[in-house]
Amino acid sequence: MIAGIFLQSTDFIDAAYIVAFGLMIYGMSGLTGPRTAVRGNKIAAVGMAVAVAATLLRHGEFHGSGTVVLIVVGLLIGTAVGVPAARNVKMTAMPQMVALFNGVGGGAVALIAWVEYRHGFVPAHHPPATGGWPLRAEGFELFGAIIGSISFWGSNIAFGKLQEILPGRPIKLPGQAVINVALLVVAVAVAVVLASGTHSELLFIVGILGVSAVLGNMVVLPIGGADMPVVISLLNAFTGLSAAATGLALSNPVMIVAGMIVGASGTILTDQMAKAMNRSVPAIVAGGFGGAVGAPVSSAGETEGTVRSTSAQDVAIQLSYARHVVIAPGYGLAVAQAQHAVRELERALEAKGVEVKYAIHPVAGRMPGHMNVLLAEADVPYDLLREMDDINPEFPRTDVTLVIGANDVTNPAARNEPGSPIYGMPILEVDRSSAVIVLKRSMASGFAGIDNPLFYDDKTSLLFGDAKASVSEVTAEVQAL
Ligand code: TAP
Repeated sequence: MIAGIFLQSTDFIDAAYIVAFGLMIYGMSGLTGPRTAVRGNKIAAVGMAVAVAATLLRHGEFHGSGTVVLIVVGLLIGTAVGVPAARNVKMTAMPQMVALFNGVGGGAVALIAWVEYRHGFVPAHHPPATGGWPLRAEGFELFGAIIGSISFWGSNIAFGKLQEILPGRPIKLPGQAVINVALLVVAVAVAVVLASGTHSELLFIVGILGVSAVLGNMVVLPIGGADMPVVISLLNAFTGLSAAATGLALSNPVMIVAGMIVGASGTILTDQMAKAMNRSVPAIVAGGFGGAVGAPVSSAGETEGTVRSTSAQDVAIQLSYARHVVIAPGYGLAVAQAQHAVRELERALEAKGVEVKYAIHPVAGRMPGHMNVLLAEADVPYDLLREMDDINPEFPRTDVTLVIGANDVTNPAARNEPGSPIYGMPILEVDRSSAVIVLKRSMASGFAGIDNPLFYDDKTSLLFGDAKASVSEVTAEVQAL
């Protein structure tokens, strides 16, 4: 009995919340490097479990047996869906998985707003005339409802595009921007009317959630499928913001802190991805870039010359007699699932005394840290991985650079051609090494849809074929030498 009272005392719950924040923030600091990431994730998960338990104690939820059953059923359903999904997801499908789970967060916030309105968050219970805390609380709740609903529906569209249930190309209506602004104005106006007192609160809250739902769809449909990782990160920031606003409305510190952490980190990640692609967030949201399938468009100048095709045997000879080799992986490595084959090639070369390093571009692939995750999966030692800024000065001393399924992140047009759509994007300067070998299947372009002058450079040769098959062939030849 005394223990029960102590566990539900404000002091104990506040202390539990502080422990929860501490664990979440400490766990997140582990996410700065692959060595500590798994442990960091587990620590943050423990923090979240403490926060959930403290919140249930705070509301005395453990008293009513009916509520306990509902909570247990909810936990079981969540675990039954979440654990197998997270365990079985393929690494290339990770962005859509994040989209789905992020959407669920936004949807939960929208549902909380609905429930709060049904259970007394109505003007009758909190007369707005004073303009005091209850009115502000309603304002935060409705803000959370709008943003949470946009995030839920937008994330679903992002998932659909990445999973190829919906076409990846941009889908745009004429005057789309004006329609979007009009929808936002309607949602905010209804929220203001509702917060200032009305008897039709149910109709209005449904209206707010409905208009925000249409807006969420309309915002993401015009964006090309390949831009989705940036959009998902942006929607993630939205979900965090909506959770923090709802936390303010409910005076729940854990929702405020966790929401702000998600909001802030999502915003920083979105900004960093956009910078690494040399594009602005508004330009990405305006849509129309990427996701289109078609012939490569020439970048600013005409690309001249012919390409030199090579064989696995020639590549093996070139690599085996080199002293320094750099491997520059890209999206094609992920498509081909060639990470294990690449690790084997690295070992075969090291056995011949060749020094091998990996060059990691921040937006190689289609999600942040894509190459790090793939190479970690194949047990590539972390100290062989070099960030772009560290490896670029080393290219002039590199005998051979092996570009595996990377295209845009190695395109010298980003440095040399002011008219190129990717001009100004920082690249891996592979063209400064003595020789370049590119592994790809055809002359097709990469995500940006532009030609790559690197392929026509005199020092470049191309080994055409699926990256995994090509790398395995080269390894066999290296081992046979
Ligand atoms: P890309 O420029 O997209 O080039 C990938 C290359 O891989 C293609 O040229 C393709 O040529 C080749 N490829 C595909 N499947 C292959 C296979 N099975 N075997 C061998 N090659 C294969 O990739 P990147 O250099 O990694 O650049 C990433 C791009 O995505 C950048 O433009 C970046 O801005 C954008 N982006 C990145 C992110 C993040 S967060 N990473 C998010 C959104 C957009 P073939 O078809 O001829 O084989």
